[in-house]
Amino acid sequence: KKTVREIDVTSKRVLVRTDFNVPLDEAGAITDDTRIRASLPTIQYLCERGARVILCSHLGRPQGRVEGRLRLALVANRLSLLLDRPVAALHDCIGPEVESAVAAMNDGDIVLLENLRFHPEEKKDDPAFAEGLASLAEIYVNDAFGASHRAHASIVGVPNYLPAVAGLLLEREVNAFTRILQNPERPFAVVIGGAKVSDKLELLDNVISRVDLLLIGGGMAATFFASRGYRTGASQVETDRLDEVRRVEKNAERRGVRLLLPSDVIVAERLEAGVPNRVVPATEVPDGQIIADIGPAAVDEFSRELRAVRTVAWNGPVGVFEIPEFAEGTRRIAATLANLDGTTVIGGGSTTDAVQRFGLADEMTHVSTGGGAALAMLAGKPLPGVEALDDAEGP
Ligand code: 3PG
Repeated sequence: KKTVREIDVTSKRVLVRTDFNVPLDEAGAITDDTRIRASLPTIQYLCERGARVILCSHLGRPQGRVEGRLRLALVANRLSLLLDRPVAALHDCIGPEVESAVAAMNDGDIVLLENLRFHPEEKKDDPAFAEGLASLAEIYVNDAFGASHRAHASIVGVPNYLPAVAGLLLEREVNAFTRILQNPERPFAVVIGGAKVSDKLELLDNVISRVDLLLIGGGMAATFFASRGYRTGASQVETDRLDEVRRVEKNAERRGVRLLLPSDVIVAERLEAGVPNRVVPATEVPDGQIIADIGPAAVDEFSRELRAVRTVAWNGPVGVFEIPEFAEGTRRIAATLANLDGTTVIGGGSTTDAVQRFGLADEMTHVSTGGGAALAMLAGKPLPGVEALDDAEGP
């Protein structure tokens, strides 16, 4: 796909779709500005070349209505601080007021349109809305990797009306995933965790044909345990997925992929801080107990296995890391990856949160800003937002 580096942007009005969908606390303050920081290279690149930068994003899930706490003015303020230049927050994303603000822009100016999802047309990929957005600019740049799995107007609609290229973040994200999936240095391991196996079946199917080693943890391991006939106590087992889990295990065996489940687990009556917990063999989770983390023997085994590989992709924490008693497995996996002499790709969402919480993000090769988009990449599914961009010229 064509990138922003291959086009002339000087004095051009450039509409940039960014992913400023940042987490907010109860008072409406930004709790993590990673996604804003990750957008800076593209914005700076455009400003330095004298483009007129029109930024747009969604924030939260406002159901097509204006919601005061989801206005993007707070993002504009943070962005302005980070860039050390003014960023004007506009009160809408289409219409005469926006058009006149854009007409008054000078080279290097930056404006941020209002939350795209205040308009129901955004999620419906409404052509008139997409055309309205496109009419503000001469060039479209998609830098919103985290939202590129959504076929929404600002992602797939606008490219119908403008030359459409990838921003620097989108390019970096897509390249990181493509490289490890298509041409990994071997041995290549994937660590998969998270609560539900049903969210990860496509990912499992895709990676099994590419990896040498598959390590499975998190709540989803319970369904694997159940399919092997282990006692799973009160852990959540997705009984409607047992056949699919068996198929995954068979597939791994047929392809010579080593699939490892934790040999021991930490269990508790409830997934809450301060509740008593203990280590038990994975085969014998007592009645009434829930799996909360992988156990110390599993941590040692997983770490030993991971130290011997050259490429690791990780999607999904192996325990309930938000609770200190159940964070150790996830922390140790993160630490092992941080020390690995090889390529480490962190697949977004809660895995990215965990790695950041442990202060290890800078030690990884790539930490994705996407949740659903990272999962889609690892599952080998094309991202609609990338598909919609112009193809690069030449071979
Ligand atoms: C994300 O947070 O993963 C993206 O910004 C997409 O948000 P959405 O899940 O509300 O579409």
